[in-house]
Amino acid sequence: MKKLLATLAVAASFTLAAHSAGAQTYPERTITVVVPFAAGGPTDTVTRLVAEAMSKDLGQQIVVENVGGAGGTLGAGRVASADPDGYTLLLHHIGMSTSATLYRKLAYDTLNSFEYVGLVTEVPMTIVARKDFEPADLKGLIEYAKENKDAVTVANAGIGAASHLCGMLFMSAIDTPLVTVPYKGTGPAMTDLLGGQVDIMCDQTTNTTKQILGGTIKGYAVTTPKRLDVLPDLPTTEEGGLPGMQVSVWHGLYAPKGTPAEVSERLSKSLQVALKDPNVVARFAELGTTPSPEADATPAALKAKLESEIARWKPIIEAAGQYAD
Ligand code: MLT
Repeated sequence: MKKLLATLAVAASFTLAAHSAGAQTYPERTITVVVPFAAGGPTDTVTRLVAEAMSKDLGQQIVVENVGGAGGTLGAGRVASADPDGYTLLLHHIGMSTSATLYRKLAYDTLNSFEYVGLVTEVPMTIVARKDFEPADLKGLIEYAKENKDAVTVANAGIGAASHLCGMLFMSAIDTPLVTVPYKGTGPAMTDLLGGQVDIMCDQTTNTTKQILGGTIKGYAVTTPKRLDVLPDLPTTEEGGLPGMQVSVWHGLYAPKGTPAEVSERLSKSLQVALKDPNVVARFAELGTTPSPEADATPAALKAKLESEIARWKPIIEAAGQYAD
């Protein structure tokens, strides 16, 4: 028995050593960052910009894998069950916190299936419509929606998406349920909005700024307390008559639970470098957002944000009574 225990102890120490040796030489091969929405949407856009800068810092290729569906929870589940070796990461947003209440059954435990790397950015949202949609402004949209509630279609990226949350806040604010049309991401939803197949959407400036400025979709409002420099003519929801409707989409970078702390720390340092990259800063500004400050691009800051946001949105979601089956 003693011999067996001694053998097991040696084997365990070898495994531990290999694990920590791997952490010390990390990264040694291509890293995959999962985006839990379809390609071409706001989460995809943010991730590709950050991944390109982190790849330069880490000296390893970073590939983006789009795993859409179920409002981002399928992609999150994919990473929760990945090997905790630092080579499969998740870039997700506020939906990580709202899905914890919206979904009674998830393939992961929101607060115990991930290690934290850091916050990435907080993106404003815009209420937009197909360019020939009748209402001229937010006030007109509210009136039109109330009078035509069974006809107005609202695109989102599924229950748990930021676009779902914002749409839910809008419908609660006007006390009118509308017809929701789910997509695997607001990239494909934008295609239908541009084509006139769906009426309105609440989506992030990282996906709507170019189209609003180009006049290919109609912008009604931005969901921030102040107007945005990049969209100076777009009123705030408060100016348009919806003072309580303010929401911004924070994004975080995660690794599977069990990923060595040295790896999470190395990734956090690389994220902090990436968020200062001139191309990231410039592109984020063009898209109406800014990188998270260095102090927020840390595991502790992301953990605190996720915990506080779960608590913040839980009563709001319960009051709206919208759950995923
Ligand atoms: C959402 O939550 O609406 C997502 O950001 C959509 C997307 O990134 O495609």
